[in-house]
Amino acid sequence: MFLVFPDSTAIAAHLSARLQDIIRQDPQATLGLATGGTMEPIYARFVQDVRANGLDVSKINSFNLDEYVGLSGQHEQSYAHYMQQHLFSQLPFEAAHLHLPNGLTTELEQHCQEYSAAIAACGGVALQLLGVGTNGHIGFNEPGTPFDSGTHVVALSERTRIDNSRFFDSMDEVPASAITMGIADILSAREIALVVTGEHKARTMLNYQEGGVTPELPFTALKQHANAHILLDEAAASLLDPSLCHRPLISQAA
Ligand code: F6R
Repeated sequence: MFLVFPDSTAIAAHLSARLQDIIRQDPQATLGLATGGTMEPIYARFVQDVRANGLDVSKINSFNLDEYVGLSGQHEQSYAHYMQQHLFSQLPFEAAHLHLPNGLTTELEQHCQEYSAAIAACGGVALQLLGVGTNGHIGFNEPGTPFDSGTHVVALSERTRIDNSRFFDSMDEVPASAITMGIADILSAREIALVVTGEHKARTMLNYQEGGVTPELPFTALKQHANAHILLDEAAASLLDPSLCHRPLISQAA
């Protein structure tokens, strides 16, 4: 079943409310975070709601999905920089609780193992936010990634580098590899919210609906998760079978 909302603003309101519920229930909850254009309205709404409601976020833990190899946290296109800009600098988080893969590590293999272990040591992810690439990638798990993968280094596909080149001055500057949480890490979350917005993702979603579960479309791994929700705007849902689309009643309450 697909949850279809009028637009990205309505999805942001819904997920902000869900995130706040989780934090109210467990102030030390561990959140799995993503970057990318899809997440921006969600973080903006969450920041607004947390401020308005005076919610304490100082004890939560977070793990980001991925980071480019070779970019420092100061680089404007690093995911560390994105998170600072859109979320971490906006609310009184405890910096030591906020985790991203380190794109500058020289011990890549060891770092990846430690990252997966650190997620487990925090009690696992309560809610994993996800976006999807037009080729079906989640995190930077490109087509062909085994579903049992932990955190690992990936060579980015040409499709993904082209998609992301809009954030860099030229194609040459788009990093060739990244560190990503693996599909097994993602599936270990107790709840997953995949957010898909925009007409350019409509065909990707049709592939999800029509396909089976295959590493060639990494996000089809979510079909194996008992508590994964797919939230779409009308544009991304435009090619889906209407009988599989549920339109939740919209509440403006935060
Ligand atoms: C980002 C990430 C990626 C993006 C995906 C969609 O941390 O893991 O999988 O979620 O590339 O990106 P946008 O939202 O920019 O379309």
